[in-house]
Amino acid sequence: MGFREEDAALFGREAPVRRLVAEVRHAPQTALVGRSGSGKSSLVQTGLLPALHATRGTVWHAVTLRPGADPLVALAGAFDPPPEGVGRIRQLEHLNEGAACLRDGRVGLRQLAGSVLATLPESARMVLIVDQWEELYTQAGRGDDVARFVALILELAEAERVHAVSRCVPISTTTPWPTLACPRSWKAAR
Ligand SMILES: Nc1ncnc2c1ncn2[C@@H]1O[C@H](COP(=O)(O)OP(=O)(O)OP(=O)(O)O)[C@@H](O)[C@H]1O
Ligand SMILES: [Mg+2]
Repeated sequence: MGFREEDAALFGREAPVRRLVAEVRHAPQTALVGRSGSGKSSLVQTGLLPALHATRGTVWHAVTLRPGADPLVALAGAFDPPPEGVGRIRQLEHLNEGAACLRDGRVGLRQLAGSVLATLPESARMVLIVDQWEELYTQAGRGDDVARFVALILELAEAERVHAVSRCVPISTTTPWPTLACPRSWKAAR
């Protein structure tokens, strides 16, 4: 996973971080692309997030997830984690129920994000980080769920106060998965 947010002091990429922060603040979606190991995850964890959290006057609420084998479960868990102190079966039930609600449209992602933002000051913004976006194509099992996940994320990116959806996608000349069309992308290179 590279550096974590608490390793920010170790990280010496002020200029790229400034550019990325400016990009994310102004664009509804940002795709962070770069070859594997180029420092995408570290840039987000040690550069982007600490810089956003240090912004005066705006609370940035970060939601981070990896799609993994079950992207709708990952999404449900990121927005509505299972309660602590209950058994594993109950936790899985909670996640599966959340994923089922997102799958069949009983609950929308905008609604979920809105309920999070409603607990924060009016000026608060949400940044959703989907790291390892390519797992949608390398790990996820159900094609319908992948399509639904992508649709939910794109819809969320258009919501007010959700300024940025950052996707950390490795690219190579032989990329076997379709990279999503994204209005702007930001290239990590070191
Ligand atoms: N600015 C930096 N200086 C030194 N080392 C760094 C820097 N950025 C990242 N690294 C190191 O490089 C390695 C790869 O970084 P990271 O995991 O962030 O890359 P990535 O682009 O997310 O890779 P992947 O596509 O495989 O997920 C890690 O071990 C990390 O600690
Ligand atoms: Mg990474």
